[in-house]
Amino acid sequence: MSPTLSVRDLAVDYELSRAGLFRRRRMVTAVSGVSFDIAPGETLGLVGESGSGKTTVGRAILRRIPTSAGQIRFEGQDITDLAGEPLRRLRAQMQIVLQDPYTSLNPRMKVGDIVAEPLVVHGLAPSREAAREAVAALLARVGMPADAAGRYPHSFSGGQRQRIGIARALAMKPSLIVADEPVSALDVSVRAQVVNLMQDLQRDLGLSLLFIAHDLAVVRHISHRVAIMYAGRIVELAPRDAIYDRPIHPYTQALLSAVPVPSPTVQRSRRRIVHPGESVDIANPPSGCRFHPRCPLATERCRDDAPPLADRGAGHFAACWNSGA
Ligand SMILES: Nc1ncnc2c1ncn2[C@@H]1O[C@H](COP(=O)(O)OP(=O)(O)O)[C@@H](O)[C@H]1O
Ligand code: SF4
Ligand SMILES: [Mg+2]
Repeated sequence: MSPTLSVRDLAVDYELSRAGLFRRRRMVTAVSGVSFDIAPGETLGLVGESGSGKTTVGRAILRRIPTSAGQIRFEGQDITDLAGEPLRRLRAQMQIVLQDPYTSLNPRMKVGDIVAEPLVVHGLAPSREAAREAVAALLARVGMPADAAGRYPHSFSGGQRQRIGIARALAMKPSLIVADEPVSALDVSVRAQVVNLMQDLQRDLGLSLLFIAHDLAVVRHISHRVAIMYAGRIVELAPRDAIYDRPIHPYTQALLSAVPVPSPTVQRSRRRIVHPGESVDIANPPSGCRFHPRCPLATERCRDDAPPLADRGAGHFAACWNSGA
């Protein structure tokens, strides 16, 4: 079966404007060489620390930010340079669920209008009554109370607001949803409920889902495959169980372990460990393998040559010179 989404060698640059007398302008490459597919009905988890480029990838495939290189195909069509009306129609088929349910819903609109808005904008509700019925069915589907449509977002909890965001994304019957850290802003106690809901919807509706998270634990149950990003590149991509049971890349191993970076020579590497949350400066990325300043297995070669994302068999890809045979 051909993939719903196919991304090849994607790169995105941002312009850095600098203060100062001559206001030099500089481009920085936030992500590069990013390639992956998502099959119909498949969930791909995309995991990496803050600043690694996850949101950039998500926004680029939804055609919300310009790409500087590479190709994006959606349902067999090259959408990399789509514009105008075809792009507008495409946007209906690819929806996003955002991280922060407190800021992503318009506080002045009733929930029913928030969910109905995409239907109205795209002219898909033939009448007010049809829109009302569609909204009621969507809200019920995501587990919201029957009277939710007439209320405002502020009267709901974070978890319920995220359910509303999901209902809104589903309104257009998309074939792909990008969920950008949809549970990161929620209380730990409600995260599992929202992830389970997304998993049920993904299965029942046969959606393709790109589920972004900064934590490997969050995506474990929902993902069929998992891609790990580091400093703007995919460093490992594999079926779910292979990532958790047989991680190859030292960064993936670090994410899976309690300590930031496991090290056989703790003393030596401790000095070099970048603390969790402190992200790589993409304007001045390390040479060679971008992970080398933090890597306990780094050798001379790692400083000079960037390892390619190589096939290690059984659909397991990793970008490392030294780890795993
Ligand atoms: N609009 C922007 N202009 C300049 N740099 C940006 C912009 N958006 C993101 N970046 C930079 O691109 C890198 C990747 O960001 P992002 O995709 O948001 O990462 P993530 O979602 O993994 O936290 C970061 O270094 C970030 O600072
Ligand atoms: S290529 Fe070298 S620095 Fe990069 S992860 Fe592998 S061992 Fe570490
Ligand atoms: Mg992000």
